[in-house]
Amino acid sequence: MTSRLVVLVSGTGTNLQALVDACADPAYGAHVVAVGADRDGIEGLARADRAGIATFVKQVKDFTTREHWDRAMADSVAGFEPDLIVLAGFMKLVSDDFLARFEHRVVNTHPALSPSFPGMNGPADALAYGVKVTGATLFVVDGGVDTGPIVAQVAVPVLDDDRVETLHERIKTAERTMLVETLGRMAREGWELDGRRVRIG
Ligand code: GAR
Repeated sequence: MTSRLVVLVSGTGTNLQALVDACADPAYGAHVVAVGADRDGIEGLARADRAGIATFVKQVKDFTTREHWDRAMADSVAGFEPDLIVLAGFMKLVSDDFLARFEHRVVNTHPALSPSFPGMNGPADALAYGVKVTGATLFVVDGGVDTGPIVAQVAVPVLDDDRVETLHERIKTAERTMLVETLGRMAREGWELDGRRVRIG
């Protein structure tokens, strides 16, 4: 039995693509059963369509409250009976109710080395601060903003002539590899949480 992944995206979906490509090998141990988004017309959804993966879109503006949107999103996710929910460039916070339905099974990838530079602008914030090393973090989502227990991290150098775009692209190259390697291990070996410490296998 391979692990069932539901991936949530808001944009380009290169992390999603890396996962889909990895899942083509049965030995990887996981497969993407659905891709959800909070907006329409994005490349992430097109990638899912091309791969023949089911998609769903829930836009906040189509619901009377944010709570209704959140519940609809959780209902859609639950319908695919995922073992793991992967936020891959998903630019919305999900609620505590959402997280309670999928306890310790929602992971997010963030383009910075947590606990530094949480939020929407990890690469820009790292560049503005002047750090020489940044990277990406895969973590188990909790109620905070990019504060959950860390599953894996990868470091990336900041170069003198970097702009936000060049830095983010370098981060994303390392991030995709980290995401694919770590999710594969989680799927094949299982994982456990001990306080803030995550152990795979
Ligand atoms: C990734 O770098 C991901 O870490 C970041 O958005 C990018 C999505 O790229 N997520 C966040 O900043 C969330 N706070 P992709 O759409 O090409 O996978």
